[in-house]
Amino acid sequence: MRDKIVAANWKMNKSLPQAIELMQAITFGLKQNPVACKVVIAPPFLYLERVVNETKGLAHAAAQNCCSRNNGAYTGEVSADMIQSVGASYCIVGHSERRKLYAETPDVLEAKLQRCYDHSLTPIFCIGENHAERTENRHFDVVAQQLEYVLFNFGAEEVAKTVIAYEPVWAIGTGLTASPEQAQEMHAFIRKHIADKFGLELADDISILYGGSCNAQNAAGLFAQQDIDGGLIGGAALVADDFLKICNELR
Ligand code: PGA
Repeated sequence: MRDKIVAANWKMNKSLPQAIELMQAITFGLKQNPVACKVVIAPPFLYLERVVNETKGLAHAAAQNCCSRNNGAYTGEVSADMIQSVGASYCIVGHSERRKLYAETPDVLEAKLQRCYDHSLTPIFCIGENHAERTENRHFDVVAQQLEYVLFNFGAEEVAKTVIAYEPVWAIGTGLTASPEQAQEMHAFIRKHIADKFGLELADDISILYGGSCNAQNAAGLFAQQDIDGGLIGGAALVADDFLKICNELR
C-alpha cells in the first residue's frame, strides 16, 4: 500500500512569529482531528528544526531543497547531512521554481537525489510541464524525459524510496488547477512509465502527489482519483484551516 501524503511547501514565506503561529494552529488542528494521511511540512531552512520539534508525532518535516554536494566550502548552502541531523525526513528536489530561477539542471538534480538517498531523506521529486509544452501537446514527452534524465539513473532500491510530485508549471501559484481528469491522466502515465522500467510492483507502491493551485475547494476531486496519492500544497498551506481541510480530504 502506498503512502497517502499531504505536504505543505511554505516557500519563502512567514517571519518566525508567523511561522510559529501557523505551526501551532496546524498541530492543534491535527490533535483535535487526526487525519488519515501523512502530513509533511516544508518550512524555510531557518525554521526546520523548530518544525521537527514542535510537530513531533503529528507531522514530518521536510527541507525545500538541499545542496548537490557533501559538506564543505559552499557558502550559503545547506547539506542533506545537516537536514538529516536536525531530524527532518523529507526533502523537496527539483521544484520548478528551483529549476527555472536557479537553473537546476538534470545533473544537479541527480546529485541532489543522491545526497538525499545517502542521508536517508525521502526526496519529493517534482516534475511537470510548462504552459507552452502542454499547449503544444508535448506534456507526456516532457514528463517522461524528466523521469528518464534524472530518476531513472538510479536503481530500483532508490526509486522505491522516492515520492513524486506532478506539478504542472502552468498551475503553480496561478489559480489554474489541472482538472481531476487531466491530473489523473498524467499520474497514470507516470506510474506506467515507472512500471515499464522498474516493474508493476514498484510502480504500484510509489506515492505520486499532485501540486499546482490545489486548495480546500478542489482537493477532494483531485484526491478521489485512483493514481493521485495526495498533494504538494503551496499557497493554501499558508492558512492553517485551509491546509487542515485539504489533509482531511485525503482518506
Ligand atoms: P501552489 O504551489 O499550491 O501555490 O500552486 C504548489 C507548489 O509550488 O508546490
